[in-house]
Amino acid sequence: MRKYCGFVSKEDLGKELTLYGWVDFLRDVGNLKFIILRDREGIVQIVADKGKIKEEVFSIVKSLGLEDCIKIKGEVVLRDEKNINPKMKTGEVEVLLKEIEILSKSETLPFTIEEDVKAQENLRFQYRYLDLRRKKMQEVLKLRHLALQKTRNYLSEKGFWEIETPILTKSTPEGARDFLVPSRLQKGKFYALPQSPQLFKQLCMVAGIDRYFQIARCFRDEDLRADRQPEFTQIDIEASFINEEFIFDLIEGLLIELFSLIDLKIEKNFPRLKFKEAMEKYGTDKPDLRIPLEIKNLKENLSENTYCINFPKPNFSRKELDLLKERAEKEKLKFSYIKWEGDFPKSNLINIYGEEKIKNLKNYLNTDNQDLTIVVSGENSLKFLGEIRIEKGKEKGFFIEGFKPLWIFDFPLLEWNDEEKRWDPCHHPFTSPTEDTLNFLEKEPEKVKARAYDIVLNGYEIGGGSIRINKSNVQRRLFNVIGISEEKAKEKFGFLLEAFKYGAPPHGGIAMGFDRIVMLLAGLQSIRDCIPFPKTTAGTCLLTSSPSEVEEKQLKELGIKLE
Ligand code: AMO
Repeated sequence: MRKYCGFVSKEDLGKELTLYGWVDFLRDVGNLKFIILRDREGIVQIVADKGKIKEEVFSIVKSLGLEDCIKIKGEVVLRDEKNINPKMKTGEVEVLLKEIEILSKSETLPFTIEEDVKAQENLRFQYRYLDLRRKKMQEVLKLRHLALQKTRNYLSEKGFWEIETPILTKSTPEGARDFLVPSRLQKGKFYALPQSPQLFKQLCMVAGIDRYFQIARCFRDEDLRADRQPEFTQIDIEASFINEEFIFDLIEGLLIELFSLIDLKIEKNFPRLKFKEAMEKYGTDKPDLRIPLEIKNLKENLSENTYCINFPKPNFSRKELDLLKERAEKEKLKFSYIKWEGDFPKSNLINIYGEEKIKNLKNYLNTDNQDLTIVVSGENSLKFLGEIRIEKGKEKGFFIEGFKPLWIFDFPLLEWNDEEKRWDPCHHPFTSPTEDTLNFLEKEPEKVKARAYDIVLNGYEIGGGSIRINKSNVQRRLFNVIGISEEKAKEKFGFLLEAFKYGAPPHGGIAMGFDRIVMLLAGLQSIRDCIPFPKTTAGTCLLTSSPSEVEEKQLKELGIKLE
């Protein structure tokens, strides 16, 4: 009977088990040898007693090395009271070895497989299959698997069909650079890997699928960070005849399911914040609500473009404040602070605005004795204070552990691209404008609001979507405003515009960043740690050494010459 090492328990007492696994640790006490055997479910102790087993069995045990892959047979027995290991799940029992077979020897490892891994990330990535042997990594992979299953079940139960869309396709409009794949049969032409299944999922709606989902791999050639990989996974969703409330409810339900995997209960009705309000209060459209500090606008109290953030009794050193000032000045901001001491605030702002105005801030900011209010003026004040809020909020102990999801909505439809001197969509060009602002589209594009929404968790954007345009004339007007000519629109998205002619239902959807969700559930700092085979920030896979050069013959077949 085969059993996983990590599942051996008192229920198996007296049974003879066959176990397969890797030698995690070896210990020698004279005629007794102990093997800690590991598989994906955990570890168990095997005891080889020289007096009780055949000599050749014992000599195999003596020859074992760490990470050898072995098969053993033995009887499960209770450990002596004094040998019980409460730290080990299987620590009450051990397996008395009877037979052993080395299935595959291991050479000396490039790094030790231990929880508190000391090896550099590059080495771990080069030997990712060894890195993945670590308990933490196996737990993450299991969590990922369970999260995928939960997602599939949840959406299937709600009537969504899982539909696969092409990987070799045409450029999608998510705004990043495409990964291109040259065509051999049509030299000089390229497929693009999908940045998302956006256009196909909309076509599924035209096809009458009504409710679509896909666990979709997406590809974006953009600069990489801790929460960005060139290849990542979305839970991609689209539905017809729905509105924003349908999506909010659906996704809140999905997250409740996913959080249950880490035994966490969250309530429906996540807070909702308008984009503008998020920027004003937190200096970002992905606020981390675990820090209960807010930025306040001092336009009415002091002057335009002046904002502040109050830290209750924070103990800032002089040096710290000087460093912040330096940083602010680098960003062309005026920096000052107010120290609240009873009715007599101390601040160099008193010289500018007079004592009365500064004293009056006390009520507005609801400050207390010993508080410190940081005040900045200038164009990028909000961004600066947004960063300080997180950084100093954490440092000064205002951070409250937990999960704080929220919706951001009421985004502008378009943003001015100063480099290219044109209006760009804030999301993608298929996002529907709100009905009441549509008429500003041509004359005052900045006033048009999008029916778009993002979902944010602990400072990360974990999903985003919108209700789409389903009328060709609105789509055409939008293309016109963002400078996509009729010809270009036809060339790039002609198939979608054509599809909209044949009874396209009103529809909308969302895509959730699956890797980011798993990262947060697992309490990790980087999505690299929850992707089985990730790429480095330079976009390389150190395990396979890709990207790599190809043979001249391959290039020739594709009609490609390298510069
Ligand atoms: P968007 O571009 O906002 O929307 O992507 C949806 C979510 O995917 C995650 N994400 C990433 N995760 C890891 N690495 C990346 N490089 C990366 N880029 C994005 C984020 C993000 O919120 N088609 C639209 C969705 C829609 O409108 O329905 C889309 O792709 O968590």
